[in-house]
Amino acid sequence: MLRLFAVLLIFAIATTLGCSGILTDTTLESPSGNLAIEFQLNDEGAPTYRVTKEGKEIIETSTMGFEFNDQAPMAGNFVMVGGKKSTTKETWEMPWGEQREVLNHYNEMKVELEEEGLPNRKIDLYFRAYNDGVAFRYYFHEQNGQDTLTISDERTEFNLTGDHTTWWQPGDWDIYEQLYTESKFSEIEVDPYRANLANLIATHIPENSVNTPVTMRMEDGTHLSFHEANLWDYAGMTLLVDTTNLSMISSLVKSERFGHAVKRALPFATPWRTIQITDNAGDLIESRLIVNLNEPNKLGDVSWFTPMKYMGIWWEMHLGIATWDYEQTQDMSTWNTDEATSVRHGATTENAKRYIDFAAENGIKGLLIEGWNTGWARWIGFPDREGVFDFVTPYPDYDIDEVVRYATERGVEIIMHHETSAAPRTYEQQMDTAYALMQKYNMHSVKSGYVGPIIPDGEYHHGQWMVNHYNHHMLKAAEYEVAVNIHEPIKATGLRRTYPNLISREGLRGQEFNAWAMDGGNPPDHLPKIAFTRMLAGPIDFTPGIFNIKLEPYRDENQVNTTLAQQLALYVVIYSPIQMAADLPESYEGQPAFQFIRDVGVDWEQSIVLNGEVGDFVTIAREERETGNWFVGGITNEEARELTINFDFLDSNSEYDVVIYKDAEDAHWDDNPTSIEIEEIEIDSSSSLTIQLAEGGGFAISLLKK
Ligand code: NOJ
Ligand code: CA
Repeated sequence: MLRLFAVLLIFAIATTLGCSGILTDTTLESPSGNLAIEFQLNDEGAPTYRVTKEGKEIIETSTMGFEFNDQAPMAGNFVMVGGKKSTTKETWEMPWGEQREVLNHYNEMKVELEEEGLPNRKIDLYFRAYNDGVAFRYYFHEQNGQDTLTISDERTEFNLTGDHTTWWQPGDWDIYEQLYTESKFSEIEVDPYRANLANLIATHIPENSVNTPVTMRMEDGTHLSFHEANLWDYAGMTLLVDTTNLSMISSLVKSERFGHAVKRALPFATPWRTIQITDNAGDLIESRLIVNLNEPNKLGDVSWFTPMKYMGIWWEMHLGIATWDYEQTQDMSTWNTDEATSVRHGATTENAKRYIDFAAENGIKGLLIEGWNTGWARWIGFPDREGVFDFVTPYPDYDIDEVVRYATERGVEIIMHHETSAAPRTYEQQMDTAYALMQKYNMHSVKSGYVGPIIPDGEYHHGQWMVNHYNHHMLKAAEYEVAVNIHEPIKATGLRRTYPNLISREGLRGQEFNAWAMDGGNPPDHLPKIAFTRMLAGPIDFTPGIFNIKLEPYRDENQVNTTLAQQLALYVVIYSPIQMAADLPESYEGQPAFQFIRDVGVDWEQSIVLNGEVGDFVTIAREERETGNWFVGGITNEEARELTINFDFLDSNSEYDVVIYKDAEDAHWDDNPTSIEIEEIEIDSSSSLTIQLAEGGGFAISLLKK
């Protein structure tokens, strides 16, 4: 009887929707027709999707479902009760970014499902097909008198069609600061030693899973990257790996404190599950799918933030020359060397002035000062870090009024620093006063940090509770006209489109690892992998520009594993609207190569990937907004190589002053990293140029419009 009633109800819904409500064709093609995503209910009534590219299968039929804490799983028994298709084509402008105008062109299909048996739950699926990938999300209705939903896990499958070459990092719930590994998909195995590397203060990998973005190359050269977009009030998604069946299934980061993954008021939509699909590696970088899947700007004018280069009282702490804390107990020089060197507190008024002078003389607009506030003596290694950091009280040797006055007079903006030591509740209590202080000093950006395991226990950096914290941090900061650059963050999922005060983040093994990592730092193939994996998610605060590559005399055991020319190339290759000139001022004194850092842009009219293979090499050209200057950067892994660049992207009616900074013949990341050749050359839009890159090397070219 009940079943009959359900069937009648479905019939009623279907008729009220009329013809526009019933989808006869549940295949959705991309605007150019190259890609298609097809929806079906399988024999059990479970929703499935399948993806093709030019008719060839890219994702085999994969099921979609959910498990809950307080009700039966949503895994089958569905019927389709309605749906519709639509097309959107628009362009929108990035207030700052890799390019000014972004084309957002997609077809969308909504599929309305309802369970045949009780409790007749309803769920809508939204599919989108773009020319550079596909995406889908789930929409939960308010229903059956329920106003909240408690999800224990999401079960979205991604069934691969082959044993693709894969660039992956462990599905860590706490940190993305691990190396990407290249392997066949069937050989993915999280190495517990690497995963629990002594360098990582917080790491938690409960399953053989990977974090996103995870990038793959199919045999025919098609590239895929799996990620998510618009992560909002939901848990981060890792992908459980089934190496036998060549399949992945979503596994959400859990709150062990509450015993669920997601708890949320109904109705709501999940983040988008995304698959970027391109003919070659470079097109992955040019894809704007992740930002396109987010909503338009909700903050309006954010011109109070301007993209900039900055310096930092920062590297000296990582080198162990200075400490963050006034008390000088948190001394990095003693953390991985036998002998302690003599240290001083880094954030002093005097030291700040030294950096301000250097920045002002060299046209660098920002200065980050870490270790200016009280609390650092109880930072790393202290289990109870709640209530310790204070975000308004400077140490006695740091006169904040004077530093800001001195900086302002010289056209330098101080970048605020808030290390939370992963005690988000303490930070939340102080946010208003902390950002109000920034407003008073006309500071418009903050770098925040979340080092260590999250307090309280049972929460992880990538779970829903922290996702909400990071988003709250961003929204609260926006109220005070503050832009945020988050370290130890949740992954980027394109929210910068909606909230353009979300300027940059770390969320990878950054330059800092070269200063102290016990495994010798970032290997030369690290950034050629990052460009095609982590960078697809969004801007990266990598902090390039180390000139004292061997870190002499501070670190015997460590060095930067690239040439100097590659350090320059990173300003172009690794995108961020804030780019640090990370080395000490004295490392730049008298260095002709520093001219590139003075010249290079940070905000782009357009960006073009000229060549690249994941993990091997990549060259990117970017045109600066307003000036029309172009900058080109190329990097290689541990292999030397020759790259030929065609300059047909240049304006054929313009002339340029062109300087190339390239590895000298004898350069090598280990044997001779600082051997660089700087040359003025003649280039126009009809030129092509063949460049030699050393092992671990690179090149940078500035083309300044005459
Ligand atoms: C970790 C960040 O990655 C690093 O840049 C910063 O200096 C420290 N946390 C201190 O906040
Ligand atoms: Ca970090």
